[in-house]
Amino acid sequence: MSKIYIEGGRRLAGEIRVHGAKNSALPALAATLLCRGVSVLHNCPPLLDVTASIRILEHLGCVCRREGTTVTVDSSTLTGFDIPDTLMREMRSSIVFLGAIAARCGQARLSFPGGCELGPRPIDLHLAALRQLGLNIQEDHGLLDCTVQKRLSGAVINLSIPSVGATENILLAAATAKGRTVIHNAAREPEISDLAAFLNRAGACIRGAGSSIIEIDGVYDLHGTEHTVIPDRIIAATYMAAAAVTGGDLILRDVEVSHLTPVLDSFRAAGCLVEPAVKSLRIAAPDRLKPVGTVRTMAYPGFPTDAQPPVLAMSALADGPSVFVENIFENRFKYVDELARMGAKVKVEGRVAVVEGVPALSGATVSATDLRGGAALVIAALAASGVTEIDEIRHIDRGYADLENSLREVGANIKRE
Ligand code: UD1
Repeated sequence: MSKIYIEGGRRLAGEIRVHGAKNSALPALAATLLCRGVSVLHNCPPLLDVTASIRILEHLGCVCRREGTTVTVDSSTLTGFDIPDTLMREMRSSIVFLGAIAARCGQARLSFPGGCELGPRPIDLHLAALRQLGLNIQEDHGLLDCTVQKRLSGAVINLSIPSVGATENILLAAATAKGRTVIHNAAREPEISDLAAFLNRAGACIRGAGSSIIEIDGVYDLHGTEHTVIPDRIIAATYMAAAAVTGGDLILRDVEVSHLTPVLDSFRAAGCLVEPAVKSLRIAAPDRLKPVGTVRTMAYPGFPTDAQPPVLAMSALADGPSVFVENIFENRFKYVDELARMGAKVKVEGRVAVVEGVPALSGATVSATDLRGGAALVIAALAASGVTEIDEIRHIDRGYADLENSLREVGANIKRE
């Protein structure tokens, strides 16, 4: 099994290009199912979850081609409407295929996605919304057997939580439904706007994406189109943390600065110089980081839960205490025990973590507990004295493409074995 080794204490300086957003690429790939013809997606990151999505599309009969970061999907050859359990388990977000398959095929069969490292990940909101759109869903022994009589129909849907995945499933199902769908309390994440942009380019009629009320006027069908996936804001936040903990000075290329607004304040509070420019951003660290105060994770435009672990790792080195309140996922502090092995002083009680802040961390043998928790360990290791060995790095590989090369090019001593 591969491991990452990092010898910490090196100052990072130079430029890193930020790749496309995983959380945009995955629903966009599901959306290609709705487009009768060929769709071309640029800036698709070379990640395991993208590979898993392509495998699902191929299983359904689509012809897919991947050249660099461009993925071409021809869905005119679609034959299937089921996703086997093995493929469903590879990636929890495969549930986003449900709305698209049901809308395109009039039926869908897939297994329930299991729990995940961050605690239970229910899909009740997805299912309730799709039922409102006319999908008949039988839940049986972990299987979802879904049928549509004729065509899905528009509905007014009030989401009790602005769930990203549920909003995406509704967009996909409603784009070709009969009549108008209105989503109240829709998720406002940039990835939702990106999916709506893709669908509109393919002929859909969606207004209001990015706000909490989205209106979708269903069209008969969608055509193939070309789209470029937005930059990954969580990757950008992670590299910012890497610069911060190493006393570094980095320029991040291909970022969408407006998507980063919720996290920039934390880096400024830590004493970093943050200079946004067009599609790029410079971050320069102070001699000693300051505490970030209280960070509360929230739905967008609040502080993103996915940036909580790397920013907490940064705060572990601050000159004073910081507090993190995790409001989105129940179990998102697992990685903190691993940080403690490196000398971090963090107390967790339920959804709150109090980080004391220490002058230095030391290298240790640690294990990535989940994707962003793994990234937090990388951040800590870059600053720690000595060598850190990180295993279970398959978690990190789900969301970070070419992490070692990107960090090595700006001065990190990092290798994979
Ligand atoms: C997406 C992102 C993930 C990010 C999260 C929150 C993808 C592939 N993943 O996940 O990286 O951390 O948004 O920004 O885009 N909930 C329910 N019932 C449901 C659905 C969700 O109770 O049917 C709850 C969840 O348990 C969680 C909260 O709602 O507590 C938010 O989840 P959601 O926004 O749906 O996250 P995902 O779409 O799974």
